[in-house]
Amino acid sequence: MRRQHGMDEIVVTGSTGVIGRRAVRELLQAGHRVTGVARSAPGRARLAADGAHAVEADVLDEASLRRAFAGADTVVNLLTHIPSTDRMPDPSAWAENDRLRTAASAAIARAARDAGARRLVQESIAFVYAEGGDAWLDEDAPAVGGGVTTTALTAERNARELFDGDTVVLRFGLFLGPDSESALAALEAARGGASVAVGPPGAFRPMIWLDDAAAAVAAALRVPAGTYNVADTDPATNAEIDAALAAAVGVGSLRTGTPQPGPLARSQRVSSRRLREAGGWAPRMRAATQAWTRIVG
Ligand SMILES: NC(=O)c1ccc[n+]([C@@H]2O[C@H](COP(=O)([O-])OP(=O)(O)OC[C@H]3O[C@@H](n4cnc5c(N)ncnc54)[C@H](OP(=O)(O)O)[C@@H]3O)[C@@H](O)[C@H]2O)c1
Repeated sequence: MRRQHGMDEIVVTGSTGVIGRRAVRELLQAGHRVTGVARSAPGRARLAADGAHAVEADVLDEASLRRAFAGADTVVNLLTHIPSTDRMPDPSAWAENDRLRTAASAAIARAARDAGARRLVQESIAFVYAEGGDAWLDEDAPAVGGGVTTTALTAERNARELFDGDTVVLRFGLFLGPDSESALAALEAARGGASVAVGPPGAFRPMIWLDDAAAAVAAALRVPAGTYNVADTDPATNAEIDAALAAAVGVGSLRTGTPQPGPLARSQRVSSRRLREAGGWAPRMRAATQAWTRIVG
């Protein structure tokens, strides 16, 4: 039994990724004992250097996961495998991510249940909402998925239905930070005078600074079970985002392409009020407009 008085034992899958690394540090700072599941020796060494425990497990093998989750109060699943920006149009590039969101999320939910965990936190995305125009979208707005976002809804369902404790689903906006591939790709395109927006200029796009996303994972431990959006308090439109990108790289304005169909083109003015009110969490910056100069700087 690893649990010590006054501390919660948290086990994190996906602990070595862009959000996982930050979440592990946030959880340690909040006073929890944290174990990161990592498949590589360098990943486990980095976790140990941060002050976390590290275990090896096969995220598709329930017996292996049950061993990793033994003694956990909470399991946090932050596994993703998003293809690089240039490979994103190829549906086959998403196979690994789909496997993590379907088979691995199911194995994790069952293993967390069997290991006796009381809470499961499951990563999802804010792009699952139907076209919302200018309307604010809270967590009760229709979530229709579509394209590469559909399996995020499968992961949500697995976490809610296969686990028998409190499930908290976090629907994150687009991650922005110095190590976010999409942020770096957007800056690179902007330097060439182009926008990466696939929706119309007036469409709202939910985004979140990675450090604020990690703080939301820590907040997920203290909120009632349920689904929570995690995005800028006041999401920006594509036009606002492009203006901020252009200013950050010192070009006049960005060329926009023809709007493309698909979930990433929909207008999603996502409200994160529920997590702000229940978890005392708030983003420290408006990522959509402030991230770019920060990353360039
Ligand atoms: N909401 C969003 O906007 C969002 C969400 C997710 C990712 N992204 C972006 O996508 C880019 C790539 O991110 P990513 O999620 O692919 O990589 P990542 O953040 O480097 O990795 C995610 C985590 O999942 C683990 N993992 C992936 N595939 C696995 C597998 N088959 N078995 C076991 N563990 C596995 C990784 O372990 P290893 O360290 O061993 O590989 C890592 O711990 C990043 O720039 C990120 O910002 C954006």
